[in-house]
Amino acid sequence: MKSKLITEWPNKAANRAMLRAIGYKNNDFNKFQVGIASTWSNITPCNNHINVLAKAVEYGVNSNLCKGIIFNTITVSDGISNGNLGMKYSLLSRDIISNSIEVVGKAQNIDGIISIGGCDKNIPGCIIGMCNLDIPSIFIYGGTILPGKNRTDIVSVFESLGKFYNKNISEKQLLNIEKYSIIGSGSCSGMYTANSMAIASECLGISLPNSSIQNAQSVNKIINCINSGNLIKILLNNNITIRKIINKESIVNSIKVISLLGGSTNCFIHLLAIAKCLKINLSLKDLQFETNNLPTISDLKPSGNFFISDLINTGGIQKFLKFLIDINLINGDLLTITGNTLKENLKFIKINYQSKILKNINNPIKKTNQIKILFGNLSINGCISKISGKEGEIFFGKTLVFNSEEESINYIYKKKIKNNTIIIIRYEGPKGGPGMREMLTPSSALIGVGVKNSVALITDGRFSGGSHGFVVGHVSPEAYVGGVISLINKNDLVVIDTINNFINLLLSKKELKKRLNSIKIVNKIVFGILNLYKKYSICSSKGALLDYE
Ligand code: FES
Repeated sequence: MKSKLITEWPNKAANRAMLRAIGYKNNDFNKFQVGIASTWSNITPCNNHINVLAKAVEYGVNSNLCKGIIFNTITVSDGISNGNLGMKYSLLSRDIISNSIEVVGKAQNIDGIISIGGCDKNIPGCIIGMCNLDIPSIFIYGGTILPGKNRTDIVSVFESLGKFYNKNISEKQLLNIEKYSIIGSGSCSGMYTANSMAIASECLGISLPNSSIQNAQSVNKIINCINSGNLIKILLNNNITIRKIINKESIVNSIKVISLLGGSTNCFIHLLAIAKCLKINLSLKDLQFETNNLPTISDLKPSGNFFISDLINTGGIQKFLKFLIDINLINGDLLTITGNTLKENLKFIKINYQSKILKNINNPIKKTNQIKILFGNLSINGCISKISGKEGEIFFGKTLVFNSEEESINYIYKKKIKNNTIIIIRYEGPKGGPGMREMLTPSSALIGVGVKNSVALITDGRFSGGSHGFVVGHVSPEAYVGGVISLINKNDLVVIDTINNFINLLLSKKELKKRLNSIKIVNKIVFGILNLYKKYSICSSKGALLDYE
């Protein structure tokens, strides 16, 4: 037991004295010590309830003769930091969360860890932190929020703002949407980043079966927490660490399921980051190969009509996963935290998964995938597009260039944008932003002002899982390091082809070279920890992690 370093009698008497002061009894010192990393915070509905879940986990851990110790991490809320400078801290928070879990876990010499996450960055943060500890680990998703009045949610509010500025709704209507869209606790309710990463965690094998599709405020979520707490003892007895569970194939399983369900582009960055931290050889090209020919089968928001809570009401995703294993689309022979394989976990599940939300794979919502990985002279390291298909699959247009998100929003709300315009928002990458902000505000503004199907948006920043329209993000190399995106001028021609997966700036090599020679990099002044991210973050095509090595 690692924890003997703080619990062994008599040489650890001083450490034990400290532990007695926080409630330890004599027999607690002989038990496995299990850290419970809670991302509780009342700054956001996503995590507002997680203290209750942490207590349920502690109950489950202690009932199976282990000793649970709850500790907190920080969290930020993407829904609140979106559209302002706070978003620069969002992706960085993933790494601070993973670092904090690693630091507490190592300093406290815990034997096992259960982490609970409920927002876009704290879910991958928890997973990466557990990977760095490499001890028996379980991830618990905090669960989804229910839709608000008239089936609205956070994205409805962002999009209503564009409608308000375009005089399509009144101030009173906007206020009503603001008041009644988000009620209660839980993660944003569509197939956005949190729900997508939760499903990824189940496919990775590090969460209990069906736990990724649960309402935040539900009895099932509490039971899931107790059961997870109970289960850690088996992982500890058998020394099944997280690195024995997550591997290249489980990551590929996850990305395939997310792509089929029309999930968030952010999952690509997070799963690449998890692979990097585990030293798994996985590239954006590999992910393109694995997902390129998949259809889109779900009618979930942001592009579709349904919320995750609707999916819960129609039976979740277990039948669907079983079907994917049966047709060999995902690998069912991989180990999970139950000690069984993915396939064994699903052996009693019937495979008829189809519903109004999940369509027949042979008669999908869209024959091609909403998410496409593109390469070309505009992004030699690759970028990620997400299109529902309603906007067309090839976009050709003239550029309108902005060096920050704020510049673009001012323009979108105040000026009329011509059809076939390609908006470029650059210097928003990991180093250039710094922080690789999400462009939910500009993408929602384009929808709100009614030009969603006639305008495309390209950025070296990211998109929220809630973004839709013809959007291309993660352009790499980013502008700050001299990527071709930094060389674009107003009215240049760009073609985005999501059928053949390329993105090109239509300029001669001679002109590109000329512009490269006179390039003036925009260097944004930043303070404090953003300097750390600016200095040590790696390329978005590799997960945009802080890399200290
Ligand atoms: Fe936390 Fe959406 S802002 S899940």
